[in-house]
Amino acid sequence: MNLDDLYADIERARAELGSDVVILVHHYQRDEVIRFADFRGDSLQLSRVAAEQRQARYIVFCGVNFMAETAAMLCDPAQQVLLPAGDAPCPMARMADVEQAEEAWERLSSAWGEDLVPITYQNSTAALKAFCGQRGGAVCTSSNAERLFKWALARKGHVIFFPDEWLGTNSALALGIPRDQIAVWDPDDPDTSYARAREATVVVWKGYCHVHTFFRVEHVREVRERYPGIKVIVHPECPVDVVAAADAYGSTAAIIRYVEQAPPGSAIAVGTEINMVARLAQEYPDKTVVPLARSLCGAMYRTTPLGLRDALRSCVAGAPIHVVRVDEETRRWANLALERMLSQ
Ligand code: 13P
Ligand code: SF4
Repeated sequence: MNLDDLYADIERARAELGSDVVILVHHYQRDEVIRFADFRGDSLQLSRVAAEQRQARYIVFCGVNFMAETAAMLCDPAQQVLLPAGDAPCPMARMADVEQAEEAWERLSSAWGEDLVPITYQNSTAALKAFCGQRGGAVCTSSNAERLFKWALARKGHVIFFPDEWLGTNSALALGIPRDQIAVWDPDDPDTSYARAREATVVVWKGYCHVHTFFRVEHVREVRERYPGIKVIVHPECPVDVVAAADAYGSTAAIIRYVEQAPPGSAIAVGTEINMVARLAQEYPDKTVVPLARSLCGAMYRTTPLGLRDALRSCVAGAPIHVVRVDEETRRWANLALERMLSQ
């Protein structure tokens, strides 16, 4: 089937559904999907939209599993969230399971008692969000991690952060916490982890995003040589040395703002997912926008226009497919952690 026919199908289905459907699309989605966004955003923006869109019966989420799960927990239970990709698991979200988190929690609580707050990156399972909610903790995204760290440290003396070592470390460093007060928790080596962690203020889980740990300081060096005067901005899931070598860092929405606000004629290298960087280059032809290196998120790439069409058509037929569900108990606790984030 040619792409134009597919686009026409999508428009037809969406027109039939009218205000019954809203399409949410993350910035990392391919252009063929982005074009159908009612709302395009970063993880935090899309969570807020999902929580506010009470009129739509169907929320079609073009993103990865944890994003659709979060939307399903924040929206009204009568609404249905569809993930057109069917299954789009973020590898990092699977790097921290609740049993391992419990072990870390118990060990650290034996050292610090109740003087400990858990925070999880939104890029985690619903079960881990519930784990944090139940223990007085919160969720954060890449655009408010530092704020949530501040919130946590104003309440208690210690923070454990799941599952991204780099977002956790970058956020703690940005708040002035010295490197020797930040310990890494390796779930495969809890004994060594505990010995180090008990002396720390912030404990970060040993998880990572392969899309962002792909970027290296050499990439920054090379791009600066190739384009003298170029500015470099990266996502905070990048390793600490890459963030330090860059001129700026921020969530996907912050990166977009940075490019938008740069004066015409400027050159900017962007260290994040390639679909978004390529789009920025197209949308700002008066600026030179180049990828720091080509790095693609396979989980995000699973959403196709065909998948979107089928999801919309299933709603038209009154038999929605790929509906994301979270059990009531998990939802209740996870929502506590999400609400703590959204109220910050
Ligand atoms: P944002 O929080 O910037 O939307 O990023 C989400 C993500 O998955 C980055 O890898
Ligand atoms: Fe997960 Fe990384 Fe893809 Fe984001 S870019 S969804 S963290 S794998």
